[in-house]
Amino acid sequence: MNIIDGKAVSAEVKAKIREEIERDKLEVGLAVIIVGNDQASRVYVNNKKKACEVCGIKSYEYALPEDTTEQELLELVNTLNNDGKVNGILCQLPLPKHLNEERVIESISPLKDVDAFHAVNVGKIMIGNYAFLPCTPAGVMELIHSTGTEVSGKECVVIGRSNIVGKPMAMLLLHENATVTICHSRTKNLAEVCRRADILVSAVGRADFVTADMVKDGAVVIDVGMNRNAENKLCGDVKYDEVAPKCSYITPVPGGVGPMTIAMLMKNTLMAKKLQSNA
Ligand code: GUN
Repeated sequence: MNIIDGKAVSAEVKAKIREEIERDKLEVGLAVIIVGNDQASRVYVNNKKKACEVCGIKSYEYALPEDTTEQELLELVNTLNNDGKVNGILCQLPLPKHLNEERVIESISPLKDVDAFHAVNVGKIMIGNYAFLPCTPAGVMELIHSTGTEVSGKECVVIGRSNIVGKPMAMLLLHENATVTICHSRTKNLAEVCRRADILVSAVGRADFVTADMVKDGAVVIDVGMNRNAENKLCGDVKYDEVAPKCSYITPVPGGVGPMTIAMLMKNTLMAKKLQSNA
């Protein structure tokens, strides 16, 4: 069994980005919007700002109060859409309940949508003609590649069908010629389906969800979960201690997918700069 070191792989990606930005003397800016006081979102936003610093990208934080109106948020996005220093705009989710996430996402210029959440960019992912990479799925692909595992022709099972992870994850695997199954809460015989997987990606959001009986011997297991267990310790979806011995490769939580998501965000921000320079 081998542990995939997401921190090391992400550090390599960020170093390459920094090199390119320095070599070409680029001025790249990312606006990060956070609304309200969600603790987890605060941690993610801080990590994204730190990554910007590592890459030589300027970050501009907009921390808005919980009671921000949709109109105020949409006006901010509009200002940032028209700000030449801002190449990427990211609005940290989830938003407070009174704000419509879809409307906010759709208000971001598709050319600055570094999360690749806008319908235009989601459509491009579906076609395989990318402007921006979906960050978490693209990070997962890089981790799989880092193991030297061939994806083409493999049985891949994705647990979870969210717009952020499950659906685009399935698309990226499909683009690399995997045979892909998406499982979700209504899937029958989940363990049996998962046991077919040469590559199993879990994006459920429940601690200890993936158990040893769901994993084929020698599988590559990628854990996208970010949960807190009963002791408030950060953990993934996979019951690591019993699953890890069966795997050829497995990602830890923390230190697996999380750092890669952020590295892909940096890659998209640099891509945004280039897209806008050519526009
Ligand atoms: N909330 C959870 N994951 C993400 C992400 O990748 N981007 C944003 N903006 N919000 C999130």
